[in-house]
Amino acid sequence: MMRSLPDPFRLIALEQVDSTNDEAKRAALEGARHGTVVWAKTQTAGRGRRGREWVSPEGNLHFSVLLDSGEDIAKTPQLAFVAAISVRDALAALVPAAVFQVKWPNDILCQGRKIVGMLLEQAPPWIVLGIGVDIAHAPDPSLYPTICLRQIGSGAEPFDVLAGICDHLAIWYAKWRQDGFAPVRQAWLADAAGLNGPMTARLADGTTLEGRFAGLDAEGALLLDKSDGERRRILAGDIFFPR
Ligand code: BTN
Repeated sequence: MMRSLPDPFRLIALEQVDSTNDEAKRAALEGARHGTVVWAKTQTAGRGRRGREWVSPEGNLHFSVLLDSGEDIAKTPQLAFVAAISVRDALAALVPAAVFQVKWPNDILCQGRKIVGMLLEQAPPWIVLGIGVDIAHAPDPSLYPTICLRQIGSGAEPFDVLAGICDHLAIWYAKWRQDGFAPVRQAWLADAAGLNGPMTARLADGTTLEGRFAGLDAEGALLLDKSDGERRRILAGDIFFPR
């Protein structure tokens, strides 16, 4: 029997949907609340960031959670970091021998390859946090190389991973609401891929910036130090590290 999810999470389990983010938005319109989890074994139209496709075969984990981002709308992007450290902690507990890193803005890496992607969208009055974990299949790499849990020796099933993530999300979400962004930022930076090293950022308008990854500011913007000494705050984009 499947164990239940911790408070405040309540599960809607489905065989197949277009996108769990879209299903969670529809649920929100019908009155679903903070803590609603929509999990589907497969997605027919899984979405990644910037409209990219998210390949969603059976055996991988695809789910979305409705979350209350609090009174201050400006703090909503901080939820991406709350989510990332929760997923990292859950995977680290499931596969203690592996090393997981967070990658700005919403990925988790293992052995330098992407294993988790996350997508935050609006589902008024909530935020919908969509999480995809490659468990049984690592889709063909497009933008980034990929890896899945089976390739690092884990036999965890999708529900085990979902429940583990919810355990850690319950803890980190409550801490964020109570203590603010500082402990979240510190936990994220402790395992940040590429920190203090060279990086390339590709911004939404297509501009490319080269520099050193100097960390996060107090709001969660990525800091990039250019070689001419200028420091840039980056709020959205893709980042790449030399291989
Ligand atoms: C990315 O890395 O570009 C984000 C990927 C987000 C994928 C998840 S899978 C569950 C949820 N439903 C979607 O359609 N997308 C997210």
